[in-house]
Amino acid sequence: MSKRYYNHKRQRDEDGDAPGRTRHPPGLKGKDIGLFYARRSQARKQRKETLGTVCLSDSKEKEIRRLFYGKSLENLNLTDGNSYTHIEDSIFKRSYLSSIRGNITEKLCEAPIDMLRVPHLDEQLKNEFDKKCKDSKYISMFKFREKLPSYSMREALLKVIEENQVVVISGETGCGKTTQVAQFILDDYLMKGKGSMCKIICTQPRRISAISVAERVADERAEKLGVSVGYQIRLEKKLPRDHGSIVYCTTGVVLKQMESDPALSQVSHIIIDEIHERSVPSDFLITLLREIIKRRTDLKVILMSATLNSEAFSKYYNNCPHLNIPGFTFPVEEYFLEDVLQMTKFKFNQIGPQNGNRFYWKKKQDNKDPAHIEFKEYIVPYARQLKSEGQYDVQVCEQLKDIDSEKINLDLIFDLVVHICESRKEDGALLVFLTGYAEISNLYKKLETSKKFPTSKYVIFPLHSQMSTVDQRQIFLPAPTGKRKIIISTNIAETSVTIDDVVFVIDCGKIKMTHFDVDSNTEKLEPLWVSVANADQRRGRAGRVKPGVCFHMYSRARHMIIEKYQKPEIIRVRLDSTILQAKILQLGKIEEFFPKLMDPPDSKAIQLSLDLLQRLNALDDNENLTPLGYHLAKLPVAPQVGKMILFGAIFSCLNPVLAIAASLDFKDAFQIPLGKEKQADMKKREISDGLNSDHWLLYKALETYETEGNTQRFCYEYFLSSFTLSQLKKMKDQFMTYLMDLNFVSSLNPRDPPLNRNSRNASLIKAVICAGLFPNVAVLRLDQRGRARTIRSIDGEQRYKFHPGSVLSGYNTCVFESPLIVYYKKLKSSSDFIHDATMVHPLPIIFFGDQFSHKLTPDGHCISISKFLTFKTTEGTYRVIKELRDRMNWFLEHKITHPGFVNWNEPSNEMNVLTAIMELITSEDLGDIDNEDDDDDDCY
Ligand code: CDP
Ligand code: MG
Repeated sequence: MSKRYYNHKRQRDEDGDAPGRTRHPPGLKGKDIGLFYARRSQARKQRKETLGTVCLSDSKEKEIRRLFYGKSLENLNLTDGNSYTHIEDSIFKRSYLSSIRGNITEKLCEAPIDMLRVPHLDEQLKNEFDKKCKDSKYISMFKFREKLPSYSMREALLKVIEENQVVVISGETGCGKTTQVAQFILDDYLMKGKGSMCKIICTQPRRISAISVAERVADERAEKLGVSVGYQIRLEKKLPRDHGSIVYCTTGVVLKQMESDPALSQVSHIIIDEIHERSVPSDFLITLLREIIKRRTDLKVILMSATLNSEAFSKYYNNCPHLNIPGFTFPVEEYFLEDVLQMTKFKFNQIGPQNGNRFYWKKKQDNKDPAHIEFKEYIVPYARQLKSEGQYDVQVCEQLKDIDSEKINLDLIFDLVVHICESRKEDGALLVFLTGYAEISNLYKKLETSKKFPTSKYVIFPLHSQMSTVDQRQIFLPAPTGKRKIIISTNIAETSVTIDDVVFVIDCGKIKMTHFDVDSNTEKLEPLWVSVANADQRRGRAGRVKPGVCFHMYSRARHMIIEKYQKPEIIRVRLDSTILQAKILQLGKIEEFFPKLMDPPDSKAIQLSLDLLQRLNALDDNENLTPLGYHLAKLPVAPQVGKMILFGAIFSCLNPVLAIAASLDFKDAFQIPLGKEKQADMKKREISDGLNSDHWLLYKALETYETEGNTQRFCYEYFLSSFTLSQLKKMKDQFMTYLMDLNFVSSLNPRDPPLNRNSRNASLIKAVICAGLFPNVAVLRLDQRGRARTIRSIDGEQRYKFHPGSVLSGYNTCVFESPLIVYYKKLKSSSDFIHDATMVHPLPIIFFGDQFSHKLTPDGHCISISKFLTFKTTEGTYRVIKELRDRMNWFLEHKITHPGFVNWNEPSNEMNVLTAIMELITSEDLGDIDNEDDDDDDCY
């Protein structure tokens, strides 16, 4: 390891002096002794704050100066307020200005209002439809459709939609809302010879449901996708004809469409499905539509939800009519934890002080934890009451008093599955609700390896959104005769997919959710108690074909105190992207628009995101989109990831940066089977090139996948999901189309050589990552050998750990040359974890960080970033950095306001500045730094 200029020894020594140095030198008297100690404590303080010395060698300084000195770029005035006269007239300028001037109300006023009728098309569509009704496949599918509860409500539905602009439709899952309602409307228009006036959009919360529903509906209409039915999701589309058609799309797609056409001028009906899920996009869309329908009085809005809380939506839309499709479900017997314990005789682990595990016992007794307090207040008295009533075994009541009974216990669930399969001889599938991938695969393995579920008698499916659609289709098929189907699923099976033959349901009682804690500015991913609404939905899954049974893995007492409904997503997540979206949609001041939402988020959460967007230079002080903010809002990723992409394009290292951006935005492709973590860590290290960067690893994984011949073997060997990798590859292509629209690239190929001139320069890529992710910086305290002792937030207030999955996490294996890391995601689960990180040298931080300042102290020149990150430097280095930083800011502003491809192959002033920046920010990795003051304590 190089100890070029990070003086780890100094860091280590900061809290104590070497022996013999603790007292003042002999001979000092009176005031001088005081002065000696005052100076020493000042010097120590300084040491504490300083993160190392940044000092360029003379030759490097000269080389960098030569590159940019005297090469003046056009003298544009960058401080001309809002007139933007410094931006040359361009498509960008016009669309940017139109996006910051005016508002959605004005835009709506300018929009054409009525959909145009095309008479000859009406006739043609009618004839086609009449012919279709005689098609044998259509007829046989129609027989199925006729039996759905929604069919009996067809006339009533059409009437209420005809007579009202907004309608709420609710109904049990599987009654035929998603597949039928849009078809009723379309067929009615076709039959009445008004087909050209009908264009229905039906939004879905998930990509997978948009595709599978569109396929199903096309099937029901005896057509191929792309005739009267199609879909559009972020990476794919198969659009139907323009008139007389239905598009199933994700909610995000509609919001994107509204950026250019807020009036949805070519749409006759918009159906927002699954609104009860309260996702951010659907909450947002519902609020927007309230404004839009004032202008588009002919636009029909249909809100569809499972039978949960649907009244609240009707109330939000001025008490609009609400129609419930009465579904027929069979009665479902309900059992709770006490019953399950009675049936299985299960005992939770009894590890107490008598068994020698004092720590565990103490943890179990934690009196300050709110969960423990609640448990003592409600569950323990309930267990006592049960005991006194004598209905259950004493042992069962004792088990309920154990706080472990409130955690998901896979052993207990396993025992219950065995119990059901052994004691219930009737046919019917078993559906188990769990919270996440790890649990699902754990239980799956437990069942598979237990020998109690031979393949001759059972078919077992895990069901998770990460699985490919092909696998998922098999789940809907009835199990072969004589076999029982067991499905282990996340809450995806609650409302979005319907498996008809389920008779038994096990509800683990929990649901995994992200929750943004404004006080610690951290997201938390935790399994939380389900709401009553979730529990009812889960129970309902058991009674679709005949009477069923549902087992809730929590006590009746717990059932009494869980919330009625789950909190909407918008009050649980960070709002950075939502605010940018609101800005590009021209919704005005955030504090005026957000209160219009059904459940407005906390004003502190809004402020945190506004602050971040200002620090990223996406919004100005008046909350207006800056030119950079405009580009970031146009890219379909979080603002920090978008910024990284733009820098990747400018610095000609696009392919690696796109791979990293896609992985951060979607998910990383590693899928580590349980018990294989160590092996996977080794494999990760093997391809991470020892760069102390998870982001580099993400790039290498995708890059190898894209260039390797045998992808299957590679994925298997390195624990990667080829499905995820193929999605990431598609995302890169999609980012290219956005960059092309924004005019930052001249080709659609992410691997195009002119866009990747510097793609082999790992230190530049790390600097670009830093440019994007700043201010997500954490500071390591390193020991003598450069290993991370502690990780603290930029201001030193919070402590973190590397997530065990990060390549930076190995205490013995990771040696850091720099105490600085940048990260994208920190998440609180069992600890405050940094999920993905890259070690960076100070210069990228000094270069791309905000609040740059310089101070001359008695000890020399210091540069500080964001107030908290201070580096010692020399006057010469400071001057080069300062001048180049000014140039860079000028250049970026110019580039962002004059988007264009940077041609690195032709000499130009632009190129000189970029090369100088690159020389500077990568010089630390190349060893071009003087280390003359290393280990020289007196330099302080
Ligand atoms: O939206 P809702 O839950 O009310 O029902 P739906 O999704 O329209 O489903 C109506 C019926 O179509 C159900 O009985 C499903 O089993 C069936 N269906 C199907 O067979 N294949 C699909 N991809 C979707 C629905
Ligand atoms: Mg549905």
